[in-house]
Amino acid sequence: MNISERNNEYKLLIEAELYNAIASCEAPDPLMSAMKYSISAGGKRLRPCLALGVCDMLGGEREMALALGCGIEMIHTYSLIHDDLPCMDDDDMRRGRPSNHKVFGEGQAVLAGDGLLTFAFELMLKKGLEFNSLAYFKAVHEIAKRAGVSGMVAGQSRDLEAENGSLVDENELRYIHVHKTADMLAAAVLAGAYSADADEASINALEKYSEKMGLLFQITDDILDYEGDQALVGKTLGKDEENSKLTYITLYGIEKARQIAAQTAEDAERIVLDAFGTSAEYLIKTVQEMVSRKY
Ligand code: IPE
Ligand code: IPE
Ligand code: MG
Ligand code: MG
Ligand code: MG
Repeated sequence: MNISERNNEYKLLIEAELYNAIASCEAPDPLMSAMKYSISAGGKRLRPCLALGVCDMLGGEREMALALGCGIEMIHTYSLIHDDLPCMDDDDMRRGRPSNHKVFGEGQAVLAGDGLLTFAFELMLKKGLEFNSLAYFKAVHEIAKRAGVSGMVAGQSRDLEAENGSLVDENELRYIHVHKTADMLAAAVLAGAYSADADEASINALEKYSEKMGLLFQITDDILDYEGDQALVGKTLGKDEENSKLTYITLYGIEKARQIAAQTAEDAERIVLDAFGTSAEYLIKTVQEMVSRKY
């Protein structure tokens, strides 16, 4: 399998679905333009690609994975708009463009985030009524939980709290990464699994895989912030140090952070290889790409 080709095929489906969704949105301007601006700025579309990859691996309903994956991408995009606000990470660049609040102002950027979050659930639930599948609604519940106050929002809250330097322990760092990042990746992987009405053993293995992969993804995000190429990454680098963030690099140093990333990747691969054998090729290659990613 050529993973870039597979992801390009997925991205075409995802972007068509996202643009249709936004076209059906009745928001007034400038809210509408602010929402469109961030959704159409690109990004890797990693989460919906994962939803489709897992769904295909398990022989599921692509339409379901696509609807859920696009909802997750809207939620993820809202989290980035809010993450960049001056009251959070205060970042001027995102996805190779000025951040949403730099173009539309802070008030409209907050509302564009609120809009994407609410619209994601409106669309996912509307589609759910068409699919009429209990597994699909379980996925929507899982997404709400992982995006919310015990998931991504919880991680973001602890991430901000850790800026004052009082929380410098390994468990706290793990908590932050698992929730601010791994939970939304898990939501995507599990959305793919529910689209295939997966059994409990598969769900359990995929949950474990997602946690490892999410940790790996945030460690490599922190490494890119430390030593990446700004033109490729598309966001202002060096911000974690400037904001005194708690990261694997501030806690362990760059070399150890790289070692932890490599070990975490190995663990993630092993979990899906044991559970799914060679049909886990897409999930294994996704992890391998992540270790050496440049953006
Ligand atoms: C950035 O996510 C935020 C983190 C969770 C580290 P991505 O690196 O997936 O951002 P896009 O979607 O490709 O822009
Ligand atoms: C943010 O982590 C994760 C989110 C939930 C948005 P970061 O703050 O490290 O993400 P970037 O580096 O700004 O993309
Ligand atoms: Mg942040
Ligand atoms: Mg940030
Ligand atoms: Mg970062």
